[in-house]
Amino acid sequence: GDGVFKYYSYGEWKKSSSGKSVPIINPTTRQPHFKVQACTQEEVDKLMEEAKTAQKSWAKTPLWKRAELLHKAAALLKEHKVPIADCLVKEIAKPAKDAATEAVRSGDLVSYCAEEGVRILGEGKFLVSDSFPGNERTKYCLTSKIPLGVILAIPPFNYPVNLAVSKIAPALIAGNSIVLKPPTQGAVAALHMVHCFHLAGFPEGLISCVTGKGSEIGDFLTMHPIVNCISFTGGDTGISISKKVGMIPLQMELGGKDACIILEDADLDLAASNIVKGGFSYRQHKSLYVVSSCGQRCTAVKVVLVMESVANALVEKVKAKVAKLTVGPPEDDCDITPVVTESSANFIEGLVMDAKQKGATFCQEYKREGNLIWPLLLDNVRPDMRIAWEEPFGPVLPVIRITSAEEGIHHCNASNFGLQGCVFTRDINKAILISDAMETGTVQINSAPARGPDHFPFQGLKDSGIGSQGITNSINMMTKIKTTVINLP
Ligand code: G3H
Repeated sequence: GDGVFKYYSYGEWKKSSSGKSVPIINPTTRQPHFKVQACTQEEVDKLMEEAKTAQKSWAKTPLWKRAELLHKAAALLKEHKVPIADCLVKEIAKPAKDAATEAVRSGDLVSYCAEEGVRILGEGKFLVSDSFPGNERTKYCLTSKIPLGVILAIPPFNYPVNLAVSKIAPALIAGNSIVLKPPTQGAVAALHMVHCFHLAGFPEGLISCVTGKGSEIGDFLTMHPIVNCISFTGGDTGISISKKVGMIPLQMELGGKDACIILEDADLDLAASNIVKGGFSYRQHKSLYVVSSCGQRCTAVKVVLVMESVANALVEKVKAKVAKLTVGPPEDDCDITPVVTESSANFIEGLVMDAKQKGATFCQEYKREGNLIWPLLLDNVRPDMRIAWEEPFGPVLPVIRITSAEEGIHHCNASNFGLQGCVFTRDINKAILISDAMETGTVQINSAPARGPDHFPFQGLKDSGIGSQGITNSINMMTKIKTTVINLP
């Protein structure tokens, strides 16, 4: 055809009547690589109506059948990992192996959702009235979990497939329908993922995938009266969405400034390898699923807070490991690949220049070619530098030297973010006290922050989010309790 990928509605691939498309720029070449449809508001209206209708009969489809279809989709996702990974390489410059890993992790997530859904939705509660004062045993209350309706899923560019299925699968198993708006960078990978759900044979209208410009359909989607719930992962846009939407449940995950506190008694080798893994999102060989994405993860280590007495030793160890990172194109499976857009690279550079001007110590020379930024560790960062507080979403990591654990906790809690944090120490009692004191949704003891395993609860405090994710929490969040009370004479 005209080389523009079609959008998905009512079980079919369609061209938008707008006649317009949105280009996807390859971060490595900085040239347009794919095009997707620029859908119109009328097209959104239509697929919303379809989603509303399809959901009614889907909710009546037996749970085990819903699970069966999800298992099929999961297997298809794994079978299609190569073409999906190819898209991720070209659209977001994810290193080739890690791009394939994203597809596999997504398949596993969908299967786990199907299994977890069958267990938790297969159970209800039975209550009796005489436990509350003034009541006889004359009321029996039955509870079950019912779907919310139409769920709008908006994943970010860094996991266009995985963070899409982490919303789609819980929504579907719970009996909801899905309208997906993928990020522009990553839209084709997401369309391919939707193709797997299409092949699995879900009913028409149950899943739609709409592409286009945020300026044209963004608010229209999020404020659409048919939408019963929004699950969003991304940046500041999430804050403006939550201010505009009506009375519907929201699941939001909006980034972080994850602090890594290193105490004097820490295993510095362990800390250093986790800082490199966490800060530059360099793949962790122990876990299959944590992938390279040069710091473009909300859970990346974004600030190291190290005790002065061990700071020199730690910085040396981190420097040695940074020197070993390979830098280059995603096709070569390099550890550090180009960041997603030129504006993102410019933003990162702005943070670096600000730190330079204010006297940070550069552990490596700052180097950039196009969107490719070499990994950079900035030592002796002080609170007056932007990098101490802002999220670069790139391979630049600040180190702040502290003289007490309290100082580290204070810096962590002064952030407007509160996603995850981590602490390195051999003293488990101290670690737990620090974990309790850190105002973040999760604290990792002796490891870098991470969302997975994907059934763990995942949540951010403050500007980092609303609600809790993870497979079980997402299924529960995408349902509502329904009760029927039997009144005895
Ligand atoms: O970017 C945000 C993701 O939810 C982080 O997931 O910890 O598996 O990389 P991850």
